[in-house]
Amino acid sequence: MLLHLLNVITAYRPNKLSKKIKKETKQKHDAIEKHPLLVELVNGTLPDYKYGIYLINLLPIYTSVETFFLNNTSNTDLIQSEKIRKDLHSYSKYLNVNFNNANVLFYSDWISHFFSKDQFFKKTELYVRWLADMYGGQILKKKVRFGEKYEFKDLRDSIKTIRKEIEDGLNEQNVDQFIDEVNKTYDFHYKLADKVYGCPESLIR
Ligand code: HEM
Repeated sequence: MLLHLLNVITAYRPNKLSKKIKKETKQKHDAIEKHPLLVELVNGTLPDYKYGIYLINLLPIYTSVETFFLNNTSNTDLIQSEKIRKDLHSYSKYLNVNFNNANVLFYSDWISHFFSKDQFFKKTELYVRWLADMYGGQILKKKVRFGEKYEFKDLRDSIKTIRKEIEDGLNEQNVDQFIDEVNKTYDFHYKLADKVYGCPESLIR
C-alpha cells in the first residue's frame, strides 16, 4: 500500500507554481481530511447511505467540470461522472433507495459559484476533485463498498494529464487568485461534508 502511494505521489513533478498551490491550500486539505465524514470513511465506519448522499451531491460538479475541460479527452479513464453513476446505481440497488431526493441535495450554492467563475479558475474543481480521487481516493477505495470512482487503469498517466491541464495557463499573475479559489472550493466541500454528515437515514426513506 505504501509503495503504491509512493508510486502515485511521484507520478509527476509539479512545477514551482503547483508546489505553491499545494503549500498554501494545505491547511484546508488537512481540515477536510479530519472532517468526521472523511474520518469515518477512512475507518470504514461511514454508513453506506451517507456515502451515497455524498456521491449524489458531488455528481453535478463532476459533470460540469467535464463539460468544460474533458469534453474531447481520449482518456475515458478521466470521466469520473460515469464511474460515480455506476457507484450510485450499486448503492441504490444495495440499499433499495433513490438518492435523487430533494431532501438531500445541497450542491446549489457551489454549482452557482462554479458557473460564475472565469473559465481558467473553473480548473480549481479539476484540481481538488480529480487529485482527491487519485491520491486520497487510493486509500478510500479499499474502505467503500462500491468504489469505481477511485479506479484508474493507468493512474500515473491520469495524474500527469490532470496536472498538465492545471498547469496550462497557470502563471505568476494568476496563481494567487487560483489559490483563493481552491480554498473556496475546499470550503464548499467542507460545508457539503457537514450537511451530509448530519443527514438521518429517514430523509431518503
Ligand atoms: C480522506 C482522506 C484523505 C487522505 C488520506 C488524503 C491523502 C492525500 C495524499 C497522501 C495526498 C498526496 C500528498 C503528496 O503529494 O505529498 C493528497 C493530495 C491531495 N488531496 Fe487528499 N486526502 C484525503 C482527502 C481529500 C479530500 C476530501 C480532498 C478534496 C476535497 C483532497 C484533495 C487533495 C488534493 C487536491 C491533493 C493534491 C495536492 C497537491 O499535490 O497539490 N484530499 N491527499
